[in-house]
Amino acid sequence: MARILITSAIPYINGIKHLGNLIGSQLPADLFARYQRGRGNEVMFLCATDEHGTPAELAAAKAGKPVAEYCAEMHEVQADIAKRFGLSFDHFGRSSSPQNHKLTQHFAGKLAEAGLIREVTEKQVYSNADGRFLPDRYIEGTCPNCGYEKARGDQCENCTKQLDPTDLIDPRSAISGSTDLEVRETKHLYLRQSAMKDQLDAWIDSKTDWPVLTTSIAKKWLHDGDGLQDRGITRDLDWGIPVKKGDEDWPGMEGKVFYVWFDAPIEYIACAKEWADAHGKPDAEWERWWRTDKGADDVRYVQFMGKDNVPFHTLSFPATILGSGEPWKLVDYIKSFNYLNYDGGQFSTSQGRGVFMDQALDILPADYWRWWLLSHAPESSDSEFTWENFQQSVNKDLADVLGNFVSRITKFCRSKFGEEVPAGGAYGEREQALIEELTKRIRAYESHMEAMEVRKSAQELRAIWVAGNEYLQAAAPWSTFKEDPEQAAAQVRLGLNLIRLYAVLSAPFIPETSARMLSAMNTLDTSWPEDVTAALSALPAGHAFTVPDVLFAKITDEQREDWQTRFAGTRA
Ligand code: MF3
Ligand code: ZN
Repeated sequence: MARILITSAIPYINGIKHLGNLIGSQLPADLFARYQRGRGNEVMFLCATDEHGTPAELAAAKAGKPVAEYCAEMHEVQADIAKRFGLSFDHFGRSSSPQNHKLTQHFAGKLAEAGLIREVTEKQVYSNADGRFLPDRYIEGTCPNCGYEKARGDQCENCTKQLDPTDLIDPRSAISGSTDLEVRETKHLYLRQSAMKDQLDAWIDSKTDWPVLTTSIAKKWLHDGDGLQDRGITRDLDWGIPVKKGDEDWPGMEGKVFYVWFDAPIEYIACAKEWADAHGKPDAEWERWWRTDKGADDVRYVQFMGKDNVPFHTLSFPATILGSGEPWKLVDYIKSFNYLNYDGGQFSTSQGRGVFMDQALDILPADYWRWWLLSHAPESSDSEFTWENFQQSVNKDLADVLGNFVSRITKFCRSKFGEEVPAGGAYGEREQALIEELTKRIRAYESHMEAMEVRKSAQELRAIWVAGNEYLQAAAPWSTFKEDPEQAAAQVRLGLNLIRLYAVLSAPFIPETSARMLSAMNTLDTSWPEDVTAALSALPAGHAFTVPDVLFAKITDEQREDWQTRFAGTRA
């Protein structure tokens, strides 16, 4: 049994995520976690809310709430929606947890001991109107790299370049809009990433199996321009993890906090401790996932994220881990995604454009969205959500292919043999051919899933469903029944067994429907079809079942048009 540690980029606390965020990390991570569990492997799947930094403070201010209260509330909201989307985290933590405070301060202490932290007196933008410094997203202006006018102080959304607030052209305060800004001196800590450039470079080079999207972004940051820059890891903010060296105060850093991008990835580790603490487990239980000196050397660690997150995961976080000199588990594979666009433009949280997770669930159950999003994952390039395409996929793949198969075979069986798997007859040539095709396709499905090729996996799964439909069409038990009821019985027996098989294979994509299929087939047997012949006799003659309700309702043109108009503007 393999042990697999999976993390999804942790979503910012500031509001409910849109479908573009979902397909960029949490959903594909869930697909992989469910698949690995289905194969009998031991999985630890972690996610959390990213609660520090300017996005949290700005959103809390907008909501008129103290930031701690806002974060606690939004965490519950996000946890509830994640659950309703079927995201099967072993723990959904909070980067503001006491565990993360402690661990983040611990890492800072170790990095300081290793001589990898520099204290820098630097110039920061101060807003006279707001009476405070304006780090990161507190400041907006024009990107010096691409000219985008709404670039934020930490990163340009348009070209993904990481920025410093003082880089922006025509800067203004994101709080008040004031341009009455001045540059003042303040002291900050810098992580000496540049000192680790060669080590990081060699580490990236050793990852020959990583997707090009991941390595090309990392290489760009290592080699473009002046190469890898040291990063400021502290901020003049109130909300965050106080700057300390382990348990000790850090002279000169009073009243400052760590930068959100320093503590957020450390939450991947702290989250495992939160999980252990929440279940009353000893530290050894989480350390066996994270400490290579305590059992994690045989763990495979996979991270999922959108492309804008890649520099932090390929460079900054590994620099923190390697720099600590302690035996923490490093990531083995990074799966990154392009962007999903919405109907001719971008999804946007700040502008409320697109469909958000709560709205999606108000319209249709999670599996409809899961299927569309995963089968259109923005892997090799950006992809686009359109209502036409959504309607088409749901109606064709889910309703016509899978739903129809299940409904036809169960209803036919009920009418001719009653609600139990019929006895008699034997599998013949046609069945043998189907078994061979399924075997080939299931092995292909497995290798695409192992490789985290999300679209290819969806295509293969769909082909597996189609094969069952084609078999049923050709075997036509409703005709066979008239001349040879025994043979019809064997055909129906195979069809009913296919439902169980489909439920097992499809569970990573559409877990709710899969559970309904298993419950209709009245079985708890979720064993993976290592051997397809055996899998197709899992439900023996005489085994009782029930005809399930319609699995997927078709989306009508009227509904589509209604939703199209409803989601054309921006969210209030
Ligand atoms: N909150 C960030 C985002 O949504 C992701 C943080 S991932 C972690 O882009 F590395 F910080 F954990
Ligand atoms: Zn830019």
